[in-house]
Order: sequence, then structure tokens, then C-alpha cells
Amino acid sequence: MLDKINVLREELEKIAASSKEEVEELRLKYISKKGSINKLFADFKNVSPEQKKEVGNAINTLKNFALEKINALKDSFETTSNGDFGLDLTMPGEPMKLGTRHPLSLVKNEIIGIFARLGFTVAEGPEIEDDWHVFSALNFPPEHPARDMQDTFFIEKDPDVLLRTHTSSVQIRVMEHTQPPIRSIFPGRVFRNEAISARSHCIFHQIEGLYVDENVSFADLKQTLLQFAKELFGEGTKIRLRPSYFPFTEPSAEMDVSCSICGGKGCNVCKYTGWLEILGCGMVDPNVLEGCNIDSEKYTGFAFGMGIERITMLRYGIKDIRHFFENDVRFLKQFESAI
Ligand code: DAH
Repeated sequence: MLDKINVLREELEKIAASSKEEVEELRLKYISKKGSINKLFADFKNVSPEQKKEVGNAINTLKNFALEKINALKDSFETTSNGDFGLDLTMPGEPMKLGTRHPLSLVKNEIIGIFARLGFTVAEGPEIEDDWHVFSALNFPPEHPARDMQDTFFIEKDPDVLLRTHTSSVQIRVMEHTQPPIRSIFPGRVFRNEAISARSHCIFHQIEGLYVDENVSFADLKQTLLQFAKELFGEGTKIRLRPSYFPFTEPSAEMDVSCSICGGKGCNVCKYTGWLEILGCGMVDPNVLEGCNIDSEKYTGFAFGMGIERITMLRYGIKDIRHFFENDVRFLKQFESAI
């Protein structure tokens, strides 16, 4: 019996395999139920009682040795052959899906880009403002309806704290701290106490522009805005300025661009007029300059302000302003490679 064990031990010391299949054959031969080591256990009952201890130990040692040897062979195939994992390390990786930019950000960035090329810098101001920066310094008379709770969100405890209703407040913040020349745009979020519908929302975005220097004229305003409109809506775009009123500009105007959808012929987007209103503008009122300690005899300036939602809706034919704020990915992912 001990001889048989020694012969098996010698055999096992020499085993080698060149494939997984060969390892499996060795496993069947030595350590499976019908394998040669199990046969030793079957013969064990015929061993004489005085030999049982020694033979028992020898069989167990042999069995452990066989297990170790065969498992080591098995492992060597699993770690060296990638094919066995079903993993091909030479395959290209799966690209990570990127998020998309919000359509309002796309249009905002495009507008910033156009004005940056015209020499305008970008500045921002606070969303929580006071009466001075939003109304008084911009020449709003005390009884103006914008100062009413109906139109503006005020803080109940302190009527001097409010959410800005337009980005024109940033004009004041900049002029209070900077002497001309000033040539900047101010993008930002604004708030109005309005009922939410397809056309209006209580939160929206504007971009304000301000240019103050010596000899700035209405012709400069018109040329700057024409250049802007052509870059944003296409080379053939025309503009027209209609007289209007804003407390902080004199004279004031509203600007229309020729409808980019029908080319000015008339369609349902431009309500068959051929024109789309996109911004308010004018020459900065001397009262506003003086209120910010800028010499209105020496300097003149122009300002303009536009709604980003409105321009984005015109640009992409979006019919309902509420889409911008619902964050439905089915809406948002349509703008993936828009600009
Ligand atoms: N602040 C105005 C609004 O919210 C827009 C505006 C009009 C801005 C004329 C200007 C301007 O700077 O000159 O309706």
C-alpha cells in the first residue's frame, strides 16, 4: 500500500499540462471520485489495524499534494489567457456619454462671443438687489408700476430688498465703480411677479449692454446692433428701430430684426409683419450718468437689453417658454450639437 502511494507521489511530482483540457484530464485521473487516490481510500479497509495510522496519514498527505498541484496548474491557465474571461483587451473602449449644454447657455455663449469680438467685456451683478440699483438710479419715478408688489418680488420684512427685475441694475453697479471708457455686457437671471404661461415666466434671463465714452452717438448704437443682428441671425438680416420709452435712456428705441424664418415675407412666427422685436435700447440718460458720478458733459453712452429666452425661442422655433425650466432630457438632448 505504501509503495503504491509512493509511486503515485512520484507521478504527481512530474505532472504538467499544456492546456486547460489536460488539467481536467489529470483531475479526473487523480482526484475525481473514480480517480486513483479515491481508490486508495477504498483499499484502506484492508489495511491491518497496526498500519492504519501510518497509511491513513500518507494517503491524506498525497491527496492534499495532488489537490495543490492540480489547482496550481488550473490557476496558471486562468491568469495567463485573457480569452478565457471573454475579454479582449484590444477592443476599443465604450465612449462615455457626455451631457449637453442647455439651449439658453448655447445662445447666451454665442451672444457673448459676438460682443467679445466687438470689444465688450463681461461682468455680472447680484440677483438680490436694492431699490437704488434696480429703480432709483435708473431714473424710475417713485410712482412707476415696476415698483409695485404686483410686478416685483420684494422681501416682506424689508421693502428695500428685492429680486432684480432686469439686468439694467448691473449698469449702475459698474458705473459706480468705473470711470469711462466702459464697454461691457452683463448676462444674468431676472425675476418678475408674472403668471406662468407659454409666453411668460417669473424667472428668465437677459443680456444687458453698456458703452460709455467720449463722443458715443446713436449711430454707434445702431451700427453695433446691426453687426450683432447679422452675426446672430445671418448676413442678410435687416434691423429697424422704433421710438419707445425707458426711464434710463433718452432717446429710447425698440429694435426689430427681419424675420429669419420667412426672410421678411410674413409668417405665423412674425405674425405676418416680417419683423421680430428682440431688444430695447437707447442713449444713457444724463441723469443716470450723473447719479453714478460720471460727467455727462464729457461722456455719452448707449445701452441695450434683450431677453435670452425670447431669442432662443425664435432661433429654434420653441413654442413654450416653460420647456426651458422643466429639465426634461428629451427636450434638452435635442440641442446636443446645435452650436
Ligand atoms: N431693462 C429693460 C427691460 O427689462 C430692457 C432695456 C431697455 C435695457 C432699454 C436697456 C435699454 O439697457 O437701454 O425691459
